[in-house]
Amino acid sequence: MDIWLQDVSKSFDKVSALQGLELHVRSGELLGLLGPSGCGKTTALFSICGLHRIDAGRILFGERDVTHLPPQARNVGLVFQSYALYPHLTSYENIAFPLRVRRMKKDVVDERVCRIAEILQIETLLERRPEQLSGGQQQRVAVARALVRDPDVLLMDEPLANLDARLRLEMRSELRRIQRDTGTTTLLVTHDQSEAMSMCDRIALMNGGRLEQVGSPEEIYRQPANQFVAGFVGTPTIVFCEGRAKSGRFVSGSLDLPVSADLKTRIHDGAKIIAGIRAEIVQPHLSVPVQGTIAFVEPVGRESHYGILLGDGTTLRSVQTGAPRFHSGETISWGLDPKGLLFFAHDGTRL
Ligand SMILES: Nc1ncnc2c1ncn2[C@@H]1O[C@H](COP(=O)(O)OP(=O)(O)OP(=O)(O)O)[C@@H](O)[C@H]1O
Ligand SMILES: [Mg+2]
Repeated sequence: MDIWLQDVSKSFDKVSALQGLELHVRSGELLGLLGPSGCGKTTALFSICGLHRIDAGRILFGERDVTHLPPQARNVGLVFQSYALYPHLTSYENIAFPLRVRRMKKDVVDERVCRIAEILQIETLLERRPEQLSGGQQQRVAVARALVRDPDVLLMDEPLANLDARLRLEMRSELRRIQRDTGTTTLLVTHDQSEAMSMCDRIALMNGGRLEQVGSPEEIYRQPANQFVAGFVGTPTIVFCEGRAKSGRFVSGSLDLPVSADLKTRIHDGAKIIAGIRAEIVQPHLSVPVQGTIAFVEPVGRESHYGILLGDGTTLRSVQTGAPRFHSGETISWGLDPKGLLFFAHDGTRL
């Protein structure tokens, strides 16, 4: 089921939470709604499920205009950060609840609960109450309850936020598998860029009630529309250097970087531009020189992260595989892969 948000606006008193939001969730996809705290993610989700009435715009499920329908008429499954299971009911009864409310026959309920429990791999947990389940198991029960009615749309708001780090990683691939198995059109709200990057077919990055960019994780990472997007995705965070165009190159302090042939034709000498330098493009033995001092070293398991202090005070980052081979305070003459450079105009749009 395709979901369309057309020019959707929503305010709370003086706070404008959504400002003309345009979004298309494609049928069957897992779309990540990503953005900083307060950017309007939950408001967008509540507007889609009907818990908020929007001030302007339209919301369509396929051909059906649901803008003025109450939540129960929209056929949406919801999963929140707090699982909100009924504590006195077993997993079975929790999952069956939405069906019982609709007065479905017992054997139909039984068949549906067992089918969804199988997909979620919780068949052996059906007789337990929430207090007898781990956080991850409770989350599966909550997802089963949201899916048991075969909703047209599954909406999840930070569903993994309450889990410990290891379980969160495990549940990422579990949720992805479940979403593929059921083929349910899904919107996943998260403020965790690595979660969105690893789980979603596409990512919609929001900021201040608007969309900055929608694209595949790869597009968002490699072809960010602007500086905000580039700065939001990727660890370590991309480093921005302000400089100027000079004879078809980017110059800033000790950096003198080539720009692509195509970009050369679009910038004029003296223009203020910003270079975005990701940690993976700074490596020993690359051609475009980067000289500085190692400011810090962080061994991170399989990788080592370095901070490189340049003459002008900028600290570049470098990620290298393996244990640290350089130490803090060392003067280095490394290089940079110009193909991975991103350039932005002074208003932040990518050049
Ligand atoms: N019921 C409400 N009453 C008043 N203001 C609200 C209400 N709900 C949200 N807001 C405001 O609307 C804006 C968007 O909030 P929203 O909850 O959608 O953000 P979010 O992106 O989900 O953030 P987070 O990542 O912290 O959950 C915020 O400025 C918030 O304070
Ligand atoms: Mg929220």
